Amino acid sequence: MILAEPKCVWYSVVPAPRLLQTDKGRWKVAPESSRGANHQCPLPKSPFPMNDLKIFSGRAHPDLSGRICDYLGVPLGQRSLADFPDGEISCRIEEDVRGRDVFLIQPTCPPVNDALMELLIMLDSCKRASAERITTVLPYFGYARQDRKDEGRVPITAKMVADIISRAGADRVLTLDLHAPQIQGFFDVPVDHLYAAPVLNEHFLKMDLNPEELVIVSPDEGSIKRALGHAKRLGGRVAIIDKRRSSAEDTQQENIIGGPVDGKICLMFDDMISTAGSICGAAKKLKEVGAREIHVATTHAVFCGPAVERLTEADLAGVVCTDSIPRAADQMPPRTHVLGIAPLLGEAIKRIHRNESVSRLFT
Ligand code: R5P
Repeated sequence: MILAEPKCVWYSVVPAPRLLQTDKGRWKVAPESSRGANHQCPLPKSPFPMNDLKIFSGRAHPDLSGRICDYLGVPLGQRSLADFPDGEISCRIEEDVRGRDVFLIQPTCPPVNDALMELLIMLDSCKRASAERITTVLPYFGYARQDRKDEGRVPITAKMVADIISRAGADRVLTLDLHAPQIQGFFDVPVDHLYAAPVLNEHFLKMDLNPEELVIVSPDEGSIKRALGHAKRLGGRVAIIDKRRSSAEDTQQENIIGGPVDGKICLMFDDMISTAGSICGAAKKLKEVGAREIHVATTHAVFCGPAVERLTEADLAGVVCTDSIPRAADQMPPRTHVLGIAPLLGEAIKRIHRNESVSRLFT
């Protein structure tokens, strides 16, 4: 179908491009040959003008959603979310979303099942209200750690949850520091995967640490690539902790590969700190072999179970995390620095909305 009157805000004297709707309901600019010549016509910059952008927040992290809207200079969409007496979730989108470019912001953080279910219910509400496109914004994607079948009779929850989110109505996903980047492929819709590394690096660069004294530490073999990326930007040598997991809460740190760490400042990066067993075990091991100072940094401060207690008791110079997951100040270990992730997510939302490249934000 050819749009008779494309939505637009300004005019051009160049041959007028026309928008075509594809069979998947997307908009694309018509080929040169099919355009009218030499007449003045509205020139749409984006298939979705800025006033077609609608952002809604679940109840998991409304503060972050508010900060993203502040960055974008748009109001947070009105919705009603409540719990029925039996625990089911009710949802009503209180604004017209027909034909709009909708973004739903919800980290699927603890309580994970409630956050996930609420997201699915919001997706269904927007889909049935005829939103043109729905992007699920997952500042933190829960259930990601069960991402392979490494023993018999276990699920791959990362794939299952990705399927449910697409099936509920997500046309796209915007997310941050997945537990493993290849989880992108578990979604059958386009995924924009952002990294908090530039934000974390910026924090450490401001500390003006001497690269000669630095060791970038990977707390397990799964984070080696992450450590190499930080070392490229911050300088310093790289060390890897040989971690063995004995239960969901407990880990053992056997060896340190690389370094040396004796007398050095260690910066340890992980995608998430959950019970803090991994990071605190690694810190203990580094201290045993003479590390002078240890800073830990993570994108997702899940901080569940004994995490705050462990981080408080560990010999750490500081903890750095982002606000991808909500934390009250009194639920934080001492010397914790929280870095805002709203500008990164907000910029990505703006670019997705305008069909512009997001890749500049990846590194
Ligand atoms: C493991 O593969 C992850 O990257 C984290 O290191 C781990 O999930 C952290 O869990 P915890 O804080 O409970 O040791």
